[in-house]
Amino acid sequence: MVAPVQGCATGHQSRGSRGAYSGGALAYRYHNPVAIHFGDGSLAQLPAILAGRRALLVTFPEARSLGLVDRVTAIVGSALVAVEDGVAPNPDVADLAPLYERFWREHGECEAIVAMGGGSAIDTAKALMVGTASGRFDELVGLLAKGGTFTPHRVKALVAVPTTAGTGSEVTPWATIWDRAAGRKHSLHLPQTWPEAAIIDPDLMLTLPASVTVQSGLDALSHALESIWNVNANPISDTFAVAAAREVMATLPLLLKDLGNRELRARMALAALKAGMAFSNTKTALAHSISYEMTLRFGLPHGIACSFTLPMVLERAAGTDSGRDAVLAAIFGDLAGAPRRLREFLASVGVKTEFADYGVDAADSGRMVTHALDGVRGKNFIGHRGARA
Ligand SMILES: NC(=O)c1ccc[n+]([C@@H]2O[C@H](COP(=O)([O-])OP(=O)(O)OC[C@H]3O[C@@H](n4cnc5c(N)ncnc54)[C@H](O)[C@@H]3O)[C@@H](O)[C@H]2O)c1
Ligand SMILES: [Fe+2]
Repeated sequence: MVAPVQGCATGHQSRGSRGAYSGGALAYRYHNPVAIHFGDGSLAQLPAILAGRRALLVTFPEARSLGLVDRVTAIVGSALVAVEDGVAPNPDVADLAPLYERFWREHGECEAIVAMGGGSAIDTAKALMVGTASGRFDELVGLLAKGGTFTPHRVKALVAVPTTAGTGSEVTPWATIWDRAAGRKHSLHLPQTWPEAAIIDPDLMLTLPASVTVQSGLDALSHALESIWNVNANPISDTFAVAAAREVMATLPLLLKDLGNRELRARMALAALKAGMAFSNTKTALAHSISYEMTLRFGLPHGIACSFTLPMVLERAAGTDSGRDAVLAAIFGDLAGAPRRLREFLASVGVKTEFADYGVDAADSGRMVTHALDGVRGKNFIGHRGARA
């Protein structure tokens, strides 16, 4: 059994906005403060964005051999004070604690963090950027575990440079912090953890292997759909989500046959960005709530864990709310056949869609879904009220 997900309140996220407009009155709020730089070669904007501020580069281990560390060093020059290139997938408190404490001890003079990598590197940077009074990471984790309010003692600016097309972490304030030893995950989200700027340079994604291309692409599809069957949805998040879901489904199969295609990489990068813009205001819902246990227990990569249940969640969502059905129909057309078409799409990119395919029997999956519905993200699902496993 996975312990309940805990998090810190953002203090500014409006909730229940869908209730306002589905009741007839158009009343909602959309907020995203991230300055977006998109396009091949946009990495060159980094010095202008930093504007002379000293920065730490946080990145993934292969970034050095791929030449990315040298590229950043060349364009940022002496303003780059250090490089942390040991970020492994799914940042865990066990790895983050020594990194965090070393960063605040040795690089307190840094004014900015440049996170270059997938969601793991960007989420690591979000954990680093908010300093505790003691400089200790367990102070932050303790507050997250209790669901207490955390007011950072010191804050660094964050420039996010994604090298995967998936998490949308470059345009959200969320960071997932894993605690595998305790069998749980924490969600860090504060007004201070929005990136200041995002540089989305699809050229940086050309080296992504097929496996991570699928995983991250399906994470984006999940973000788009989860923002639609969500009690926090509004017409602006819907607009981003519909475009993102359609573009992922049209582009990902083509990209898998042609991983070096720059135009397709750019289309996936844009789709993932739009999905990020959608769920930056809604958060995720049931499929993500289920995914955390699948990742913690079975080590399933995040993008597979949060997407293999999408057809099942779509079946539950359809018919719950006519307004939501209309938005889903803009992606799938006829909703009656939509779960089958989503299953076929996932199969076409090599993803199995039943719990049994992952070694989870019917009793265990039923319990897992019930538990996920009661999780923080599960409660965002439009089918949560009156839902059954
Ligand atoms: N903060 C958010 O809003 C948010 C949303 C979704 C997921 N997440 C988190 O993001 C993480 C997953 O992120 P991800 O899917 O981007 O993968 P990742 O960052 O874990 O990276 C996956 C693998 O790809 C490699 N890699 C990354 N970019 C590469 C490139 N350009 N070329 C070659 N290899 C590259 C990495 O080194 C790693 O081995 C999970 O921990 C998940 O919980 C966060
Ligand atoms: Fe996700």
